Amino acid sequence: MNNFNSLYADQYDHIYAEKNYASECDLIEEAVNRFATNPPKTLLDVGCGTGNHAMELAARGYRVTGVDMSQPMLDRAVLKANGLDKARRPTFICGDARHFKTGQLHDTAIMMFAVVGYLTTNDDLLAALRNIRRHLKPGSLFICDFWYGPSVLSIRPTDRVRESSTSEGRVIRAASATLDIVHHTADVTFKLWSLKDNQLLSETTETHRMRYFFPQEFALLLSVTGFSLKTMSAFPSLDTPLSDEAWNALAVAVAT
Ligand SMILES: C[S@@+](CC[C@H](N)C(=O)[O-])C[C@H]1O[C@@H](n2cnc3c(N)ncnc32)[C@H](O)[C@@H]1O
Repeated sequence: MNNFNSLYADQYDHIYAEKNYASECDLIEEAVNRFATNPPKTLLDVGCGTGNHAMELAARGYRVTGVDMSQPMLDRAVLKANGLDKARRPTFICGDARHFKTGQLHDTAIMMFAVVGYLTTNDDLLAALRNIRRHLKPGSLFICDFWYGPSVLSIRPTDRVRESSTSEGRVIRAASATLDIVHHTADVTFKLWSLKDNQLLSETTETHRMRYFFPQEFALLLSVTGFSLKTMSAFPSLDTPLSDEAWNALAVAVAT
């Protein structure tokens, strides 16, 4: 699936304007303070998208490398980073989580906003987690959020429509999903319409296949790829227990 195309990337920050990246970065730092043996200086953001975590964490003093397989998403990240002081700018690399190479070892890796769910087969997941592990020093943290299987099966995806304001007018996003319970995936079809004064400027449709995970499965995936699970909780908290009412889970693991 060739997703996060240019039209989708154009609207991404509008659609998720209400997502609080700063407080998610607080959560990442809370995990670091609680579980890291040494304060991290370098941070790898896998599936960095338009760079919202990368930018915030760079502004907080980390040396950030962002990796994403969508060039249109990265183009928006680079544009935003140009507004930061040169010394603070993240480095952005176009690459696939399974194969990218940064040529360095990092102190922490993050994979935020269900990026891990885009690796839908066991082979792809194992390849991505092993590749991330190869980029980390022993003792480094790996922090990610993902769709929590028990809640996906309990709540079930519903059709949703969301409207957001843009500099030009507004964007409407409709999402509908079908579950494949055997493979732990949902095919989510997003339709986006960009409008100015009720005139259609652009429209695009993408289907994203997303995998959801169960706690023991996720712990096993981590342990066979060189990580040890520290904690799993209901996102966005390190202390709220997993529950089938909370769609997203947060995992913190350490590179062994
Ligand atoms: C929902 S967006 C999240 C972006 C960003 N982390 C955020 O929080 O806004 C998912 C991102 O993962 C990227 N992605 C999906 N599969 C990937 C893969 N195999 N390798 C690298 N990036 C991937 C997509 O291109 C997209 O930018």
